Amino acid sequence: MKQLTPEQITEIRNSVDIVDIVSKYIPLTKKGKNYFGVCPFHEDGDPSLSVSPDKQIFTCFSCHQTGNVFNFIKEYEHISFIEAVKMVAESAGINLSINVETSKKVRNNDIYKIYELGQKFYLNNINTQYGRIAKEYLYQRGITDDLIKVFEIGLAIKNNKALSNLLTKKNFMEKDLIDSGLIVKDSQGFHDFFYDRIMFPLHDMNNKVIGYSGRIYYDSDMPKYINSKEHVLFKKGEFIYNYAKAKNECRIKNTVIIMEGFMDVIRAYSVGITNAVATLGTAFTKEHANIIRRLASNVIICFDGDKAGAKATMACSDILLNFKIVPKIVRLEDDLDPDEYILKYGKDKFLEKINNPISVMDFKLSYLKNNKDMTQTVDKAKYANEVIAQLNKLDDDILKEITLKKLAQETDLEIDFLRDKLVSQEVVKVIKPKKEVKTNKYTLAELSLLYYMLRSEEVIKMFDNRAIYFPTKEYRLLAHEISYFYKSQGYIDEADFLSELDDMMIKVVGEIETLNLKEEYTNNLIIDYINAIEEKNIDDEINRLTKQQHEVTDEIKKMEIGNRIINLKIRREKNVG
Ligand code: UTP
Ligand code: MN
Repeated sequence: MKQLTPEQITEIRNSVDIVDIVSKYIPLTKKGKNYFGVCPFHEDGDPSLSVSPDKQIFTCFSCHQTGNVFNFIKEYEHISFIEAVKMVAESAGINLSINVETSKKVRNNDIYKIYELGQKFYLNNINTQYGRIAKEYLYQRGITDDLIKVFEIGLAIKNNKALSNLLTKKNFMEKDLIDSGLIVKDSQGFHDFFYDRIMFPLHDMNNKVIGYSGRIYYDSDMPKYINSKEHVLFKKGEFIYNYAKAKNECRIKNTVIIMEGFMDVIRAYSVGITNAVATLGTAFTKEHANIIRRLASNVIICFDGDKAGAKATMACSDILLNFKIVPKIVRLEDDLDPDEYILKYGKDKFLEKINNPISVMDFKLSYLKNNKDMTQTVDKAKYANEVIAQLNKLDDDILKEITLKKLAQETDLEIDFLRDKLVSQEVVKVIKPKKEVKTNKYTLAELSLLYYMLRSEEVIKMFDNRAIYFPTKEYRLLAHEISYFYKSQGYIDEADFLSELDDMMIKVVGEIETLNLKEEYTNNLIIDYINAIEEKNIDDEINRLTKQQHEVTDEIKKMEIGNRIINLKIRREKNVG
């Protein structure tokens, strides 16, 4: 594979503006020189992410993520650096004649390979005579050959050693086979975890199979679905069905529809609704919310029409509201799930529902009215209090006001009275302390010096000429990386430099960027930093020698060390003075 040179990477980086690219993913607002938005890399609702058009880097002041446009896409899309470069090149119309391999994690993990083979096996099965009944079941549910192909639906046959026999013959480690969850080992030896089930593959964000949900397809007492157990690549609380396929559709429509079951997603797809995703029957988590919000800013919750679905809608809404996402809600009649609804009422009626979702507050109002007799004063009061508690979770002032008006009408209470209640109930929001960088005088000097090395050749030259030794190991490494970049490239540019760094070093740059130092510096300032670093080195050396002095028994050695300590102390005095 042809490697990209640093010059090519720089050229590609210069062909785009980081502000344009980041704002394709998250809304940005200009404030002063920089743009701000909600950081996608940690749980937050505040605009802690800053994007600098001058520096062409982004920095989160809360979680300290930083980087150039490629680092952003890499983290956001969960792809490798080089894949991110390729994406930017493509969007800028630059033709790269390189084969971009998928990320390292993808390449190196044997569990992916085990699933690849498993997937081939299951896919093949469904088209053999063993798959006849399973296919009939699918057809009868309206799952056509086309859908079977698109969703890569397969079959685990009745023989519970079929896949084990195949996989144990390959060169996989037993641990990986068992970790994958496809194979079980007991006193009888290896056997298959899934057998006699229709296999719905679960794909990760890079569209690689990492798990299955296996469904029974005839009357049986067995559980309807069995899911793969969790492993390094598969966490149910973070898993979103159809993410990879829906990603582009969601971004084009700027809307994502969340459903409860993957059969609902498949049915929706069959009628052209391609921006639906589902969790795996597990409760919706904040990790789910964190992934969902990367897909689109409009979120529609379309869960099952039954009571459990309504309850889950409440819970899911609250998690989204915590992320300052105000979802829209679709409720289906007759306890139907989206799959059943579409089959019963057809595509158009379902689309009408999706195109006319209700506001999250309207849904909550009707949810809270359930089981209440609104002609009774006690129930009415309880209702008013509950609605006000819900309103406090809401960040949308207009929606708040509209709902207050509705509440006033429903309860015959004065809107001003309700508004006062709202204020008095308002929970004092605990502001999460931002991650503090531990900065005593010395680390601050190290970080500051690094900061100016990142923007000035002069400071790099001072570092080189004076052979400055950074007391902190990772800062020392970074200083040498900067110096090396400058020597090999002949210039320093932070955004280009960030292309060369590994994740650990990028973290250090993140610490530096969030210190919010001034752009300009004076020579004296730099010398102060250098002196502080020198002072720290002397102190460290004095401490080391003092310890050594205590340890040696030879009196002459003791004195020698003592002299060295005195000399160091003199040097330190001069340095401070
Ligand atoms: P549902 O029971 O709503 O599934 O469970 P469904 O989509 O209507 O399935 P069909 O139409 O009967 O085939 C919703 C989700 O909960 C998980 C599955 O992921 C399913 O998509 N589930 C359900 C299980 O994991 N195990 C079960 O036994 C049932
Ligand atoms: Mn169903």
